[in-house]
Amino acid sequence: MKILVIGSGGREHALVWKLAQSPHATQMWCAPGNAGIAQERLASNGALVECVNIGAENIPQLLMFALEQKPDLTVVGPDNPLALGIVDWFQRQGLRIWGVNEKAAQFESSKVFSQKFMEKYGIPTAAAGTFSEAGPAKAFCATLGGKCVVKADGLALGKGVLICTNRAEAEKAVDEIMVSKAFGSAGANVVIQEFLEGTEVSLHALCDGKTAKIFPTSQDHKRALDGDLGLNTGGMGTYSPTPFLTDAQLADTARKILDPFMRGCHEEKIDFRGLLYPGVMLTKAGPKVLEFNARFGDPETQVYLTRLENDLVELLDASVNGTLDKIELKWKPAASVCVVMASGGYPGNYPKGKIITGLDAANALPHTKVFHAGTAKNGNEIVTNGGRVLGVTALGQDLKAAQAAAYAAVEKIHFDGAQFRRDIAAKAL
Ligand code: AMP
Ligand code: GLY
Repeated sequence: MKILVIGSGGREHALVWKLAQSPHATQMWCAPGNAGIAQERLASNGALVECVNIGAENIPQLLMFALEQKPDLTVVGPDNPLALGIVDWFQRQGLRIWGVNEKAAQFESSKVFSQKFMEKYGIPTAAAGTFSEAGPAKAFCATLGGKCVVKADGLALGKGVLICTNRAEAEKAVDEIMVSKAFGSAGANVVIQEFLEGTEVSLHALCDGKTAKIFPTSQDHKRALDGDLGLNTGGMGTYSPTPFLTDAQLADTARKILDPFMRGCHEEKIDFRGLLYPGVMLTKAGPKVLEFNARFGDPETQVYLTRLENDLVELLDASVNGTLDKIELKWKPAASVCVVMASGGYPGNYPKGKIITGLDAANALPHTKVFHAGTAKNGNEIVTNGGRVLGVTALGQDLKAAQAAAYAAVEKIHFDGAQFRRDIAAKAL
């Protein structure tokens, strides 16, 4: 099977790495990929994965490439091409592609859409209102005593969510999004949620339009610095499983979220084939969905795919075909920890082109895999080329062992200005 993967981050390296292990994969491309992806080889025939220099949002050129090379399956990593309707474009040309279509991508691309859907179908979520004008939005913040979260409706590079502790802050947040238009048209509408206290976890479910298969739990670390301090980032590290839900509680949570989700999709004629990633707050009053994403998490994918036993080609194929009911997801009992090594300055400005050393030594450690994100090749060197540079991932018999193994690998890797959190998975221990 010829497979094209779209994207260039740590998530896509993990997808490529896992897909490449499948005996079904006989040729693979990644657009645009990164330096680590370009080193992966297929288990079936030893062929290298070929990186193709087309950006993940350049749908016309991706389509042209696919029409020429005829991949049997295209796998989409990031949210933007999904929101732009890449799946619909490919399908209209008769190309098989995995990921949500444009209508289903709305769960991520519009927070107003998701909030209204959750309320309509009884999915547990925060008390909330949706607004298209600043005045009523501010009045609603006041009813929450100003303790609220103001969210721009559209995609805003993960920055359109403002957490407020009092009325003045809430009014400023509404003005910033709706009046000053800090996030452009993404802020024409807002969702305002009550501020929820609790432990946040990431859930993932693979869907095929009828069946949703829940993954084990994982937890991301979104702030840049230890102790959940500093600025929000794309994610500085993950681990799986988490100790916050027992298997029975996870099954119950999945039932409360996924059953009404699938029912709602059926009612609204949304054919959800892809990955549903609810961000969930475990509150005293039970689990509540903060937001939906409609793709694999990054860096959640790195810990999930190192634990997954199934053939990923078969899983994604079943998700496209609508035959997930015939498949049982199997996970290694081992725990997985991923520590993100980022460029100095990230999530603000950062330099590029810093030489990375120690990658081979880290990868040689047992049960360890260094996933690349922002890396590039410069002559014989691998250099930094983005904010999040590497996702150093290790398995262990329990979280403590996996954490020790991941940090032992991090110690082997060096580049100028490297920054990483030293407390990934600490909350679980
Ligand atoms: P979102 O993009 O909607 O997931 O929001 C980004 C982050 O803001 C989440 O990962 C949470 O840490 C935080 N957040 C979002 N909504 C709420 C809420 N209602 N209460 C508390 N924290 C929230
Ligand atoms: N782990 C954060 C994200 O993928 O959005």
